Amino acid sequence: MTNEDYKKEIIRLKDELDVTIVAHFYQKDEVFDMADISGDSLQLAQMAMDDDNPYLIFCGVGFMGESVKILSPEKRVLMPKIACCAMARMIDGEHYDTSVAILEKSGLKKEDILPITYINSSAEVKAKVGEMGGMVCTSSNAKKIIEKGLKSGKKILFVPDKCLGQNIAIMMGLTSCVIGDGSDPKESDIICYNGFCSVHQLFDVEDIEFYRNKYPDIKIISHPECKPEVCEASDFVGSTSQIIKYIKELDPEQKVAVGTEFNLVNRLREKNTYVLSSTKPECPTMNETTLEDLYNTLKSIEDDKIMNEVQVQPEVAKWAKIALERMFEI
Ligand code: 13P
Ligand code: SF4
Repeated sequence: MTNEDYKKEIIRLKDELDVTIVAHFYQKDEVFDMADISGDSLQLAQMAMDDDNPYLIFCGVGFMGESVKILSPEKRVLMPKIACCAMARMIDGEHYDTSVAILEKSGLKKEDILPITYINSSAEVKAKVGEMGGMVCTSSNAKKIIEKGLKSGKKILFVPDKCLGQNIAIMMGLTSCVIGDGSDPKESDIICYNGFCSVHQLFDVEDIEFYRNKYPDIKIISHPECKPEVCEASDFVGSTSQIIKYIKELDPEQKVAVGTEFNLVNRLREKNTYVLSSTKPECPTMNETTLEDLYNTLKSIEDDKIMNEVQVQPEVAKWAKIALERMFEI
């Protein structure tokens, strides 16, 4: 079948089935075009929760589908590809426990630590965080959640993205460290786990200098998963939806160079838009989902042979839900 055949079939199946297709902004164009709902991680979790259809097909990475299943256990959540975000893979339950043990060894008491996990983490890690009194955040609300967390008077253990943790610390004028960097965690407000996004590591200050030299009036825009020095040298830092909104409000003649995933940057605007890197910043796991996968998933509902359904262990789901709900309360 050609892509055109898949598209026709997907449209037919969407009409016939009680299903909603959800896609993150980093999905391939042809998959993204088939979505009923698109957004950043926070918007997708919220909108999927509010959706009435019993079947939800999530085109994104594993933690996104898992979060929807945890928040709406009655829904049948299917993923055309259960592809795991490389950053989320950097921490599991054991790594999390080891990190807490390291902090305890350094003299911090467990009750003086408040864990916050970026939504880009497994259900297992979210559950550990929930059980320890902590909560989840996304790139669009991380500052707000950390601000709230600090009101407890505790140290923040931020997992898994060290860049997001460090960037928020800089924005708020706080101190931060990374576990294992040789510094004393007791001296920092935000203690970060040593995880990162390999796609957003591609952007460098040299790329910013290159574009500023070429186009002195250019605006540099980056995602908070970029390195702290890149975010500090940018004109705007925001989540994927915040980046889209910021650019939409600019004069169409305003040149921009954007430090985030290629598929999103490529469909932002027709002109005056550059990728902030000489290397194409594609997210391999987001790119795994194809039209054929989407078609096969829809067909599995029609044929009553459900495939790739997201399942979360009840005990894990219970605590992970608590951590997610604490975020929504804020
Ligand atoms: P957003 O929540 O900003 O969409 O980010 C998700 C993500 O994985 C960025 O790499
Ligand atoms: Fe994960 Fe990075 Fe891909 Fe986002 S861009 S889904 S953080 S690997």
